[in-house]
Amino acid sequence: MNASDVKATLSFSDGSPSMELPIYKGSIGPDVLDIRKLYGQTGKFTYDPGFLSTASCQSAITYIDGDKGELLYRGYPIEQLAQQCDFLDTCYLLLYGELPNEQQQRDFHKLVNNHTMVNEQMQFFLRGFRRDAHPMAVMTGLVGGLSAFYHDSTDINNPQHREIAAIRLIAKMPTLVAMAYKYSLGQPYIYPKNSLSYAGNFMRMMFATPCEDYEPNDVLVRAMDRIFILHADHEQNASTSTVRLCGSSGTNPFAAIAAGVACLWGPAHGGANEAALNMLEDIQRQGGVEKIGEFIKQVKDKNSTVKLMGFGHRVYKNYDPRAKLMRETCHEVLGALGLENDPLFKLAMTLEKIALEDEYFVARKLYPNVDFYSGIVQRAIGIPVSLFTAIFALARTVGWIAQLNEMIADPEYKIGRPRQLYVGAERRDVQPVEKR
Ligand code: SDX
Repeated sequence: MNASDVKATLSFSDGSPSMELPIYKGSIGPDVLDIRKLYGQTGKFTYDPGFLSTASCQSAITYIDGDKGELLYRGYPIEQLAQQCDFLDTCYLLLYGELPNEQQQRDFHKLVNNHTMVNEQMQFFLRGFRRDAHPMAVMTGLVGGLSAFYHDSTDINNPQHREIAAIRLIAKMPTLVAMAYKYSLGQPYIYPKNSLSYAGNFMRMMFATPCEDYEPNDVLVRAMDRIFILHADHEQNASTSTVRLCGSSGTNPFAAIAAGVACLWGPAHGGANEAALNMLEDIQRQGGVEKIGEFIKQVKDKNSTVKLMGFGHRVYKNYDPRAKLMRETCHEVLGALGLENDPLFKLAMTLEKIALEDEYFVARKLYPNVDFYSGIVQRAIGIPVSLFTAIFALARTVGWIAQLNEMIADPEYKIGRPRQLYVGAERRDVQPVEKR
């Protein structure tokens, strides 16, 4: 980061000594005020719950311009990556900073393919869950459990360990998600078939059975791969910040990624795709398009907790570019399946149109985000609603591990330890129970 020639001076009306705050410029995007010496020099903290105005780190991985609705992975626009690359190319880019050439592509695909199986003991771990356990509960357990099998790659400060842990996580997440799905069905697990593409291998592990051959549908495989690309990374979102904070204690990468899985589950974050599809199905059940007005009224009612799931974003105050690409993928997949008149897709597009013309949403700059359409595509592919967020976690694993490795490789990194504004009881003495 480069020091700006503009300085910020903090002064106090009570005559306390003022303080100069250095300003740093990134390559693109907002400058930052360096407040690292603030507490030491003034005895005061900054206050920013929810981190609306706080940069927690410097990063070279992903850039978002919320006003323009722009998303870049290592400088490449998401639109170009989604149309011209596949998910493993995107993983290589996020991990190493450049798109692979043909040799690097072959080597990386082979490396990932060599790690797609999980230890056979994982099956017995799964057996501890009820068959109807939520897949995200299972995934939180399974990913954390990986650290019990790979003692040879849990020293986060060893670059070779970081590299092999990244490959293992990227390679094994599809296998684990498919195992969680098969377990919920009571069907046998399908082992990875490494001659298939990453997305094709995942679809086969999900939908094949030992009784017959399974040929992945190319349009659906391409759509699955694009869903992975669109969810791969997204700057310092809640789950990525969780992974960074968790990893900053020096814990192993599998445990840190398990913390990210747990955070992503929330309906305000990665759980929104499941919530958005359930919302659309509820409206459909209650009467479909003619019920949209009533639903929007509930959303706008301050006393109701109803939100338009899949809408709104902390950073995007314009259209989430991933939502546009997801809507295109909807058209492609539904068209390929002869479902272009899918009532839920029509309902979603009508709901989007109405919301984007409604003052409540316009005034608050609420637009569709990545989760608004992703559920419709996944449902058309045959993925159960309860598995949507697990698929999000599968795709986001490369972003989490790339961000974690970037932090650990930064010689300046320290354990994250925020402070607080204390508003509790002042010092007081314990009274004997008879006097309380
Ligand atoms: C993801 O951070 C990331 O990058 C996340 C993500 C990623 O790739 O990692 O992009 C993935 O999590 C996408 C977001 C998925 N979540 C949802 O779709 C859930 C619905 N959206 C909201 O919960 C909300 O929009 C958030 C959580 C996404 C953002 O919330 P903020 O930035 O804290 O904004 P806010 O809640 O303060 O909302 C501002 C106003 C409020 O109204 P007022 O109090 O000003 O009157 O907008 C309203 C909110 O009530 N509002 C909504 C709304 N989202 C915000 N009202 C109705 N429906 C919504 N969806």
